[in-house]
Amino acid sequence: MAFVNKTPIWFMRQAGRYLPEYMEIRSQNSDFLKLCFNPDLASEISLQPIRRFDLDFIILFSDILVIPHALGQEVKFLKNHGPLLNRISSKKDLNYTSLNKSLDKISTIFETIKILHAKKSKKNLIGFCGGPFTVLNYMIEGGTSKTHSKIKMFIKNKKEQAKDIIKIVTEISVEYLKKQIESGANYVQIFESWAGILERDEYIEFIVKPNQQISEEIRKFSKKTKIIHFPRGSRKNYKIFAEEVHCDVLSLDQTYPSELPRILREKGITIQGNLDPKELLNGGDRVEEKTKEVLEKFKKNDHIFNLSHGILPKTKISNIERVIKVVRDYETSK
Ligand code: CP3
Repeated sequence: MAFVNKTPIWFMRQAGRYLPEYMEIRSQNSDFLKLCFNPDLASEISLQPIRRFDLDFIILFSDILVIPHALGQEVKFLKNHGPLLNRISSKKDLNYTSLNKSLDKISTIFETIKILHAKKSKKNLIGFCGGPFTVLNYMIEGGTSKTHSKIKMFIKNKKEQAKDIIKIVTEISVEYLKKQIESGANYVQIFESWAGILERDEYIEFIVKPNQQISEEIRKFSKKTKIIHFPRGSRKNYKIFAEEVHCDVLSLDQTYPSELPRILREKGITIQGNLDPKELLNGGDRVEEKTKEVLEKFKKNDHIFNLSHGILPKTKISNIERVIKVVRDYETSK
């Protein structure tokens, strides 16, 4: 994928709490999921960072946890707490009858994408879903967990139940992404944010296989849609991931094997990343240096500039503007 002379740029979580205009809408809408299901407001929020910064990619405003909601699990977002789900321990605990019925529950999201498609002009439009294991993690933990002890026990002691749920999540994610593509997304990103908690054998079973299935089915469905994978924390397993899963773009965090950029170049996979969001938060001259380091590090690769994880809520707008300026001023020699 050649980006002529310029490195395109967007930020994970570019629509969110660091933006005063987001906080204004949010203050009038206390139910976060309802906001995700409101096409007028969700499309407006998706466009806020584009208006402010003229970024190259619009990302749908929604959340990965709309999938457990669609499957009949109770999902709430509590103030200053993050998500809260009623925990399940087998697929029987879900109120799941059919794919179509589940997708119907979240179908207004496709309306949001249609609105964005109509307004996107020359920008790229990213649809997304969570990686199946990351979604399972929240379904089993019931929310954000530091230790991930419940999910680790679950896949060890109740492997068949885990595989059953992963199968359903993978199937619905594929159909969900297809509908996003039909509605106008030309990129899809799969946020496998908790890939890093698994060791090799489990990584292959619960990360590689489901992501491979999603990629293959999306590729069969639409050759021109670009697929971005974000198996965060994969460390040495990034190599297995890139070997086994079809990626058009691989989003990298801070730690990956030193030979990975060369491997990705040879495979024609674009790198996305990988400024540390803490540097963006801290700002100063140092974030400019760090931004240049990222640009230099990946200058031989096709590269989409991004962070290694989402923008932190206390990040200053001026720090973001500073980073964008460095990226825009950087002419690649390709
Ligand atoms: O990137 C974007 O701007 C698009 C929108 C988007 C959101 N969540 C909005 C959001 C995307 C792509 C996500 C993905 C997501 N959601 C992930 C994967 C990426 C990652 O960060 O690892 C995960 C794990 C979630 C689940 C989730 N949603 C958590 C754990 C939380 C609470 C913690 C937090 O960061 O706030 C959310 C809430 C959430 N999702 C907010 C936003 C803007 C904040 C909600 C608020 O306004 O209070």
